[in-house]
Amino acid sequence: MIKKIGVLTSGGDAPGMNAAIRAVVRTALSKGMEVYGIRRGYVGLINGDIFKMDARSVSDIIRQGGTMLYTARCPEFRTEEGLQKAKATCEELGLEGLVVIGGDGSFRGAADLSARGIHCVALPGTIDNDISCTDYTIGYDTAMNTAMEMVDKLRDTSQSHDRCTVVEVMGRNAGFIAVNTGIACDAIEIITKELPYDLDAIAKKMLEAKANGKQNFVIVVAEGIGNATEIAKIIEEKTHIESRATILGHVQRGGIPTVRDRVLATELAYHAVGLLEQGLSNRVVGIRNDQIVDFDIQEALSMEKPYEYELHKIAEEIAI
Ligand code: ADP
Ligand code: F6P
Repeated sequence: MIKKIGVLTSGGDAPGMNAAIRAVVRTALSKGMEVYGIRRGYVGLINGDIFKMDARSVSDIIRQGGTMLYTARCPEFRTEEGLQKAKATCEELGLEGLVVIGGDGSFRGAADLSARGIHCVALPGTIDNDISCTDYTIGYDTAMNTAMEMVDKLRDTSQSHDRCTVVEVMGRNAGFIAVNTGIACDAIEIITKELPYDLDAIAKKMLEAKANGKQNFVIVVAEGIGNATEIAKIIEEKTHIESRATILGHVQRGGIPTVRDRVLATELAYHAVGLLEQGLSNRVVGIRNDQIVDFDIQEALSMEKPYEYELHKIAEEIAI
């Protein structure tokens, strides 16, 4: 039986990570385990920046964005020396298991540490929703709601000026935030990596809609596909509709986590501690079809996540 575990957050932060930390701590305590917080992800594991947690260590954090454990990217952890240092820290403290909250990079690190004898269970924490073994990642719902709120605000000013607003949302290599925000904010066009786009066709569609009485426009662009400023310039040239670009950026990574993110984080974390209690290792926990599930990390990393083509198609069809 594993009696002493640690918890860390790694990679980009996401709203709801605190809810996950809280649930890890309280689940572990309720099962009679000792639990330690590791600061700044794998950096803290290598440097021994670790403290014992109790039920009150996580008071009032469920409603806070960010991560109370801080997060970091740790190139040293990708070396054998770094992994051995991390393993040595765990052995010195008697930490037999770890809950790692992060994205796929963090999962790879967790797999490497699992292979060296430390029991690791990973939770998907990223706003991008780009983890294939789960329908939702912790932080995704909050990020989409933030993006929606921001685009709604942009729409207000766009409306007043009869303009087009071109807004870039995050997502690294995935268009999930873009397509959902686009639908929720009545975008005339959603531009993501997953589908081709044609600025001439978009301009034509806008002019047709304008002829049909539409006075202002929103175009949502996923990060990495194109330059929002450049797209706004071209759209303005082609349509003579005044256009402005906004890059939402890191505002999407902050804020009060939604109900969905708090509940998801709690369920996933509860399950993760249960797996460690059973002595399991090298697992990722996720939610699929409303069921909490877990997979071998390598298996999880090899899965493909289908893009929401159907949703994108609906958006295209009704944006008139
Ligand atoms: P995320 O977990 O959000 O995908 P990163 O890709 O930045 O974020 O990864 C977070 C950390 O996980 C890295 O700084 C590194 O310590 C570790 N990591 C990333 N990729 C690997 C890898 N291929 N092998 C081992 N560890 C990795
Ligand atoms: O993975 C989350 C994310 O916010 C991506 O959407 C974005 O590409 C990246 O992290 C930004 O990372 P950084 O924290 O290095 O600016």
